Amino acid sequence: MSQDRASIHNFAAGPSPLPTPVLQRASEGLLNYNGTGMGVCELSHRGKEFKGIIEGAEADLRTLLAVPDNYTILFTQGGGTTQFSSVLLNLLSYRRLHPKYTSDYKPPTIDYVVTGSWSSKAFVEAQRLSLPPYPSTEPFAIPRIAATGKSSKFTTLPKKGEYDFSEDPAFVYYCENETINGIQFPTDTSSEYAFPFDSVPDHVPIVADYSSSFISRPITNFSRHAIIYAGAQKNLGPSGTTVVIVRNDLLVDTTQASKLGSVPSVPIALEYKTLADNASLYNTPPVFAIYVSALVLSYLLADKGGIKGVEETNRKKAQTLYATLDEAEEKGLVRCVVREKEARSWMNVTFEITEGREKAFLEGAEQRGMRQLKGHRSVGGESITCVV
Ligand SMILES: Cc1ncc(COP(=O)(O)O)c(C=O)c1O
Repeated sequence: MSQDRASIHNFAAGPSPLPTPVLQRASEGLLNYNGTGMGVCELSHRGKEFKGIIEGAEADLRTLLAVPDNYTILFTQGGGTTQFSSVLLNLLSYRRLHPKYTSDYKPPTIDYVVTGSWSSKAFVEAQRLSLPPYPSTEPFAIPRIAATGKSSKFTTLPKKGEYDFSEDPAFVYYCENETINGIQFPTDTSSEYAFPFDSVPDHVPIVADYSSSFISRPITNFSRHAIIYAGAQKNLGPSGTTVVIVRNDLLVDTTQASKLGSVPSVPIALEYKTLADNASLYNTPPVFAIYVSALVLSYLLADKGGIKGVEETNRKKAQTLYATLDEAEEKGLVRCVVREKEARSWMNVTFEITEGREKAFLEGAEQRGMRQLKGHRSVGGESITCVV
């Protein structure tokens, strides 16, 4: 049976639903962009039309998130997963070239805050990329876990006093919102579950994976970050582009670092400096994903009250949903996975349906037009944990 878009509530965690007015405009642009008689996917990425689109997207994102001037915004490919590798490769080169270490370079530690599935994956990638190049026995780096919520099966965040940062790591890495686990760092920096920015020495770069909470509310302590990245497919646009916001001093020539030795070589399409020097157009970009992202950004600024408006909407949505779930939990119908309220995600609300009732729940949801509520395959997937 064919369904009307307006009658469906789509809860997919990514690729996620996009605003209908944006998709209507995008479908027009797909056929005929701005009266050129050509679709947006048929235009050269070096032409003035696409230049206008990508520059507009960058300017709107800068306005929306108040990105300071000393940061470059990149539109890349390869998803969040590629950034697990890119951040490490670029930041090891940065370290290698840093005057403080050139004369006596030693493999640095890298501190990972592991709070769920995605930061676990990033950590495993760091371990892989740090392995010594044969026949050497010296690793490129020593990734370590500075704090983790693993003992709680990632149902809560570490408290501020539980972090054990190393003395001089090449960088500190965390995932602001763990999509699968439904864990998110609170924005209130006085919360005991807030990310402990003050415990990281000023000179140490902090990297944040914002994939599943990007542009859902302001970025907490923006200027303390070295790199913030996010795949588009949650709140920004279709899958295919990944936004990386990099502090300008971290845009280094990785070939020069490779020549000094002791760091892994960096594939050219992953080098932030190359991407920045070419205004994200070193190679052919994902034009459609960037186009739709540009439309979403201008829609949020013009029609949704910018980031403050978006934050307010999301705050209300999260409050209503958690209040309903807490009430249902009191009646023994569901169980919220994240017990600590301050650590609960606004974007990915995880709950379990009382055993034996999952099927009925999903059928009831289906009848009410609610779609894609099934949990992620990695947490028992078929129907247990619902990521909304
Ligand atoms: C927080 C987070 N980081 C990284 C990723 C990986 O992103 P991608 O699938 O674009 O590689 C995801 C994907 O859902 C995610 O939610």
